[in-house]
Amino acid sequence: MDERIITPSSLPNEDIFDVTLRPRYFKDYIGQLKAKENLKIFVQAAVQRHEALDHVLFYGPPGLGKTTLAHILANELGVNLRMTSGPAIERAGDLAALLTNLGPYDVFFIDEIHRLNRNIEEVLYSAMEDFALDIVVGKGPSARSIRIDLQPFTLIGATTRFGFLSPPLRDRFGVISRMEYYTAEELKEIVLRSASILEVEIDLEGALEIARRARGTPRIANRLLKRVRDFAQVEGTGIITLKLADYALEMLEVDDKGFDRIDRMYLRSAIDNFGGGPVGVETLAASIQEETETLEDVIEPYLMQIGFVQRTPRGRVVTQAAYDFLGISREDKKEENQQTKLISE
Ligand SMILES: Nc1ncnc2c1ncn2[C@@H]1O[C@H](COP(=O)(O)OP(=O)(O)O)[C@@H](O)[C@H]1O
Ligand SMILES: [Mg+2]
Repeated sequence: MDERIITPSSLPNEDIFDVTLRPRYFKDYIGQLKAKENLKIFVQAAVQRHEALDHVLFYGPPGLGKTTLAHILANELGVNLRMTSGPAIERAGDLAALLTNLGPYDVFFIDEIHRLNRNIEEVLYSAMEDFALDIVVGKGPSARSIRIDLQPFTLIGATTRFGFLSPPLRDRFGVISRMEYYTAEELKEIVLRSASILEVEIDLEGALEIARRARGTPRIANRLLKRVRDFAQVEGTGIITLKLADYALEMLEVDDKGFDRIDRMYLRSAIDNFGGGPVGVETLAASIQEETETLEDVIEPYLMQIGFVQRTPRGRVVTQAAYDFLGISREDKKEENQQTKLISE
């Protein structure tokens, strides 16, 4: 799974590459217009009032720019960002150490906040609400609770799983922002920007071709650009044109919709083994030997976004658009399924 060229999650060694391409201010952050316009106003208001920005939660599929936005908010506010992740905070003491080290108005970023331990979450509540920590020291009869005051700070949480957050934690965020998939035009802008940073020559059509196949995800667009650049250098003239991009992406087995083997396996299995659904996501995951969580967080959101799969109370259903894309006729499939049934009976 991790080796997929179109996985929206970060690949090993990709972080440094991410950092060079990561926009640092709003002006370079392309798309997510609604979220961006609101955040700009909140930042300005907080700066004018000399207050910490309200706590912010970003949720949505990986690779859409949540971490990037957290950094941008800190830069625009002119404060430091301290980063950690839900699973990294094991004890309340870890959290206390991080929080007491924050400067005034700093940003405290918790990635994968849905994986935060429940006990720690409770310590976080008072920190978020009152900028104070209530900590129990000692044991037994001599135990007492002490209160530690904190500097005002902004918590930014990021998650791929909004539904996994406990309601009391959700309620403590003043701003909740859902990240959307990017349009091909927006991704084209991102590819052009990245190409100029990487000093790669690319034309508009070449950029659009990479953008179209990047599953609405900037991280994938940047990765495809990097791989296509290698083809341009070794097998082309060094310039990424439509023709070269098309050839390179074909070699990389990224098809016209940006699908790879796993997406195709998902759709194939749903159609071949389950008559196009409805089929439960666990059953489907087992049939293609993938984790249910991977299907739900990574594969399905995009298939649903482009209208290839629908979620119904009885399970997943493959739509006509997907049949058309795969060149499978529903009628032929039905007959075929009936015949197999007859043979096996
Ligand atoms: N709006 C954007 N404009 C330009 N590049 C972006 C944008 N959003 C994300 N990126 C690029 O995609 C990469 C992955 O984004 P990231 O913020 O790490 O995603 P997430 O945290 O949601 O998984 C970043 O390194 C950055 O280069
Ligand atoms: Mg991230």
